[in-house]
Amino acid sequence: MLTVAVLISGTGSNLRALLEATAAPAFPARVVVVGADREAEGFAHAEAFGIPTFLVAYEQFDSRDEWGGELLEQLAVWKPDLVVLSGMMRVLPPAVVAAWSPRLINTHPAFLPEYPGAHGVRDALAAGATETGATVHIVDNGVDTGPILAQERVAVLPGDDAHRLHDRIKPVERRLLVDVVRRIATRELDLAAASAAALVLSQSRRDEASTPDRP
Ligand code: GAR
Repeated sequence: MLTVAVLISGTGSNLRALLEATAAPAFPARVVVVGADREAEGFAHAEAFGIPTFLVAYEQFDSRDEWGGELLEQLAVWKPDLVVLSGMMRVLPPAVVAAWSPRLINTHPAFLPEYPGAHGVRDALAAGATETGATVHIVDNGVDTGPILAQERVAVLPGDDAHRLHDRIKPVERRLLVDVVRRIATRELDLAAASAAALVLSQSRRDEASTPDRP
């Protein structure tokens, strides 16, 4: 049984979907703890499912690194097999990424590498995109740059505002996230292999870019 820690900052609708899926006896993963960087609304979902929570309040630390140190301590208490960032709106410090990646995944409301960052939905609308999407990926030291595990397109419809569009993206994100966690748990998806393959690919792209054209 794969054990999962979920980190949130907000309403936790993706967390809720994971809690519902993993509550089914046949599902091969369990959420063991939910953490947040603030008093997140989504804690209510954890409580409803009887899952313990921890708060590492970002504002109470002098630096991102110190905050990350406390986050690492909390994760060390629970020792999950996988950490899921599910609407955690903080960039994790390098020490946290080094300790947990590739067993550290994130869900993002855009078709990466399009529209990374904290405002993926708003940025797609501002760019006049006719389609955007949802992505689940391994976290690396960049902002939403890690190896992609699953993604799907979502159309931008006439009259969409950020709220309406996000409401159509979220059900897709939930489905992708639950499926990725299931595939990790059944070992259909190997995070170390996915991460290594992405490294090889980015190195060969760099090599290609630095090779001068032959006459
Ligand atoms: C989700 O759409 C998630 O992808 C996004 O925040 C939302 C959280 O919703 N995360 C990011 O934009 C991270 N860059 P939820 O709290 O209802 O699950």
